[in-house]
Parts: sequence; C-alpha cells; structure tokens
Amino acid sequence: MSEVADVGSSDRVAAVVIMAAGAGTRMRSARAKVLHPLAGRSMIAWAVEAASALEPEQLVVVVGHQQEQVEAHVAELAPQARFAVQEQPRGTGDAVRAALGVLPGVTGDVVVTSGDVPLLQGDTLRDLVQAHRAGGHAVTVLTAVVPDPTGYGRVVRDGEHVRRIVEQRDAGEAELAITEINAGVYVFDAATLAEGIANLQAGNAQGELYLTDVVAHAGATGRTVGVQVLADHLQTEGVNDRVQLAERAAELNRRILRRWMLAGVTVVDPATTWVHAEVDLAEDVTLLPNTSLEGATSIGRGATIGPDTTLVSVEVGEGASVLRTHAELAVIGPRATVGPFSYLRPGTELGAGSKVGAFVETKKAIVGEGAKVPHLSYCGDAVIGAGANIGAGTIFANYDGVTKSTSTVGEHSFIGSDSVLVAPVHIADGAYVAAGSTITGDVGPGELAVSRGQQRNVRGWVARKRAGTATAAAAEAAQAGTTIEGERA
Ligand code: UD1
Ligand code: CA
Repeated sequence: MSEVADVGSSDRVAAVVIMAAGAGTRMRSARAKVLHPLAGRSMIAWAVEAASALEPEQLVVVVGHQQEQVEAHVAELAPQARFAVQEQPRGTGDAVRAALGVLPGVTGDVVVTSGDVPLLQGDTLRDLVQAHRAGGHAVTVLTAVVPDPTGYGRVVRDGEHVRRIVEQRDAGEAELAITEINAGVYVFDAATLAEGIANLQAGNAQGELYLTDVVAHAGATGRTVGVQVLADHLQTEGVNDRVQLAERAAELNRRILRRWMLAGVTVVDPATTWVHAEVDLAEDVTLLPNTSLEGATSIGRGATIGPDTTLVSVEVGEGASVLRTHAELAVIGPRATVGPFSYLRPGTELGAGSKVGAFVETKKAIVGEGAKVPHLSYCGDAVIGAGANIGAGTIFANYDGVTKSTSTVGEHSFIGSDSVLVAPVHIADGAYVAAGSTITGDVGPGELAVSRGQQRNVRGWVARKRAGTATAAAAEAAQAGTTIEGERA
C-alpha cells in the first residue's frame, strides 16, 4: 500500500512531466538514449516507475528524437501516459514548454523529471513533493553533493534557498568548485512554471532554453525556491554516455543484489552476478559466480544456480541445481539437475527430480518426473515419460526439412545410446530401444526395438589386408595366446 494511495485525490500532484526528447548525442547510438536498458528495463521505464509512485493526475512524456520508438515503448509501460512533442530539442525549458501545451490551465504541483536518471526512486519523489508542500515553496529542486560534479548544473545557494542553477559550460571558476548538483528533478507550482517558461531566453553557451532558468526567475520575482538534498547521491546521477550507462547499471545491480542478499539469497560473487529487476528469488537460493538472471526468471527455495549460467525468463523449482547452463523460457522442476553445458530452449519443461546433463540441447521438450537425459542429446519436440532413460547421444530428429513433428517416449522406457528417433514416433511405456537404432515406427509396451545392421565378423581380414602393421602383429599375438589358452583348457 503506497502512502499516496491513502490520501484524497486533491493531494495528488497535478502532473508529472518526464523529459525524453533529447537527441542523446553522447550515446552515439541508433537507439534513442532513454530506450537503452539497465537491469532489464529501459531508462525510461525506470523513470516511469518512479513517476507512477506519485499517482499523478496526468503523466506527460516529452518526446521528439526517435519519437515513434519512444512513444510505442512508453505506451506499453504506461497506457495512461500522454505525449507532448518537441519538434526540435531546444533545451529542457523548451521540453517543458511543449509539455505545458498538453496541460492547458493546469494548477497545483507539477513534478518535472528526466528520462535519463534511472536510479531515482519513487520514494524520493514523494519526499520531494512533501518537502515542497511543507515549505510552501514555488519551486523545490532536488540536489545532491557529489564527489565529481563535472557536467552537472551547479546549485548556487542563498542560504536555505536556491538563487540559481548554472550549467557546467556557463559556470565561472568559483561556481565550478560547487559540489552540490542539480538532479534535474523538480516540483513547480504550475503558475510559477508557466510564467518562468514564458520568460526563458537562450542566452547561454549552448543557445538553449534552460528549464533551470525558471528557478532564477522564481527567485527574482520574490518567490521562494526550496531545496531537498538527497544523501543517497547515486540516485541522482544521470546517463549521458555509455560509460555512465555501465556505471549506473552496475550500481543498480549492486542495489538489487543487496536487497536479495538481505532477503536470504547467497551471492558468492556480486561482482560477476547480474540480476534483472523483474527476477524473483526465494530464501536460501545460492548464486554462483558469472550468473545472469534475466527477464521474468524465478528461483525456488534452496536452488543453486551457476557458475557460468544465464537464465532468461526461466522458472526454477525448489532445490534444483543448474550448472553452466544457458536457458530461455523454460521450466525446471523441483530438485531437477541441469548441466554442466546444457542448452534449454523455449518450451522446455523438466519434471521434478529429472536430469538433463552435459551437452544436451532441448526445445519444446517435456521431460517427466525423474526421467534422465544425461549426455550429448538433442531433444526437440519431445515428450518423455516419468522415469524414462534417454541414452547418450540420442537424437530426437524432429524436422524433415519441411515440418516439425513430436515424438514420445513412455514412462520407464529405455532408449539405448546413439539412437535416432525419427519423428513422429511413439515409444510406449515400458519399452526398450536397442543402442544405435534408427527408429521410424512406433514401439509397443514391453517390446524391444532393434533397428540396425546385423553384425558380421570377417575372419583373417587384418592379416590379409593390413599385413605388416602393428594391428596385424597384435592380432597374431592375441591369436597365438588364444591357441595356447585353448591347449591349456
Ligand atoms: C540537465 C540540467 C542540469 C542537471 C542535469 C541532471 C538543464 C539545462 N540542465 O543537464 O542542470 O544537472 O540535467 O542530469 O536542464 N531533453 C528534452 N528536450 C531537450 C533537451 C533535453 O526532452 O531539448 C531531455 C533529455 O532527453 C533528457 C533530459 O531532458 O532526458 C535532460 O537533458 P540533458 O541534455 O541530458 O541535460 P543535461 O545536460 O544532463
Ligand atoms: Ca542528462
């Protein structure tokens, strides 16, 4: 239950504006900056999530550069979001001007935030709104004191209030020494914002309309500009290039891992373990080094994952063990063992206590409870019954070049090593297939299917065809031994 949900609708902020129209030039990317992912979610998804914590009456996303891509993505995340189009990226002030265009007559509190500050939390926005209201300010700026303020707007103070914000490129020496930075996140009284935006001028180093100048305007017109300093300064750090993207992603991952460790998960090597935001882990899960858990993966109590394992949207049951494996859209049952070197493709479902071993690839394969595929097999479009044993090197040949078909192996059946099951074939419960067989027809319960050439031994072949070789000498010695043994017998 969020705090905000409990208060009356009159206490909700009128709007949250997320600025996401910038060209993101410093990313040097064909992809819009705000669509680059961290911990499995786009930068803008993180911003939308934080904004949603406020339950604003209106959520406006300012789009421009690569507008279609960004709009389509945001519409999926937040169907209630509205878009304001900024034709040319003339600066953050111009972005908010565009947003006000879709908020005619707005009154009350307007929160403005950026699409490129992915660590910012919903709670931080709530605290900011609260401080803004408690102080009765016209504007409240979120700031932080950072070790390296390079590139950020510096906060020029007037005691408890902000006098102005000066960008890196417009700052003098004394201002550059300021370590308190503008997070690019604000609460504005709507009227103050509209007036300030109307008065913006591009007389700065970048020739842009700076939203930050609204702050100076508010002060100059006798309003108070409050400030909320966030101790957790990493939350305020933005992404302008791919170096910062990697740094923020690593920090986000550290925070996700920390949360799971405190919830009872052992992470042996946090530096090489990556867990995406949507992943769910139970108590007493152990993550070994070089493990990456992505998408909607969930891991049951007591399971061990890794080392060197990537799971993408995989459900792992209690007590399972998954070692050096790559798996996607698969279900691994309780106490099942997978790996090392297994590849589970979409549609794989492994029953309780089943085993998929070394160098086995599966796709749309259902492996029954306690069934085993221990070595070197391909199981595509396969249904394997409980307790069945699939011998080393078995291939479910599911594709005839045109269509794919399913084969089944019944409960407690035994497929000998190096067999090929040419789909569609059905091996009944309690049947055997002899090693090395190519199976093209069904096998009934209790039957043994043998499908391979009859063995034929050609006497004296080595002596005739390979005379003078070490093999011929070994044969001669062995035959001599046999004769002697024969005489003794
Ligand atoms: C901005 C702030 C700076 C602050 C920093 C925090 C200004 C002038 N400066 O600088 O004080 O320390 O954020 O991260 O506001 N955008 C648009 N339209 C535009 C330009 C930008 O929508 O015309 C969007 C971008 O997509 C981005 C956000 O606004 O999401 C911030 O823009 P960016 O160019 O990254 O601003 P900074 O230089 O980081
Ligand atoms: Ca930025």
